[in-house]
Amino acid sequence: MGDLSGKTIIVTGASSGFGEAIAIACAEAGANLSLVARTKDALEAVAAEARGGKTLVCPADVSDDAQIYAALEKARAAFGPVDVLVNNAGTNITERSITDTTAEQWRQLLEVNLSSAFVFTKAVLPEMKARGDGLIVNIASRAGMFPSLLAGVGYSTSKIGMEALNTVTNEEGNPFGVRACLFNPGAGNTPIIDRRPVKFSQEAKMKMIQPEDIAATVVFLASLPPRVNIDLISMMPTKS
Ligand SMILES: NC(=O)c1ccc[n+]([C@@H]2O[C@H](COP(=O)([O-])OP(=O)(O)OC[C@H]3O[C@@H](n4cnc5c(N)ncnc54)[C@H](OP(=O)(O)O)[C@@H]3O)[C@@H](O)[C@H]2O)c1
Repeated sequence: MGDLSGKTIIVTGASSGFGEAIAIACAEAGANLSLVARTKDALEAVAAEARGGKTLVCPADVSDDAQIYAALEKARAAFGPVDVLVNNAGTNITERSITDTTAEQWRQLLEVNLSSAFVFTKAVLPEMKARGDGLIVNIASRAGMFPSLLAGVGYSTSKIGMEALNTVTNEEGNPFGVRACLFNPGAGNTPIIDRRPVKFSQEAKMKMIQPEDIAATVVFLASLPPRVNIDLISMMPTKS
């Protein structure tokens, strides 16, 4: 594992699944972690499990800009400027088709999965540019590379949008040592998978990407120096 001692990292969606594993692995590598999600109890449980660097619980609904700014203020007050932002918070709905998805559900998916990543990125980019270093990891999805009815119209669209956000972040940030990585996982063994219309068996879930696989990759990315930019990762299970 890389050494992240002294780094300040914010992980959104840190109460469960990929985000929980990313937070625990980054703390183990020595980073100070700010944990963002809506469920305070779950964040506190993750913080209690984390060993190594310090952890700070910052409960927030990322579809609300004011709550994003409050979480960032709390994180900066505790640990200083942000070195690494992991835009990981995301959701999906059981309804996947245009026919079944309401306009309200569409807007909510874009708010949580995409607009929150823009607001967080906009907030940390100036301090990263000023310091000549910074990493933003955008946890998108292979659904952004291969949009489908199975993944859903709203979810797929939100993940395609993250590709554009990632590209422009690199265009703006690279001259200042700020990098963005679009990280596209395939099916992963986390609670979000239970919102698929067809449920998976436990055996099928064990063949999927596991949260620790995502976490190890984020630790690796965060341990690279500012001269290196890995702008795209696509990760998929070998068996299905
Ligand atoms: N698992 C997969 O197959 C897979 C594949 C590709 C990409 N992804 C992406 O990976 C990311 C993490 O998902 P996961 O698989 O780990 O699923 P998960 O276990 O359901 O985790 C989702 C996380 O997002 C948080 N979240 C949801 N809505 C939020 C809101 N309005 N405000 C703040 N936080 C919110 C949840 O916390 P609270 O409920 O406590 O708010 C939770 O911590 C998502 O962006 C997802 O799209 C997952």
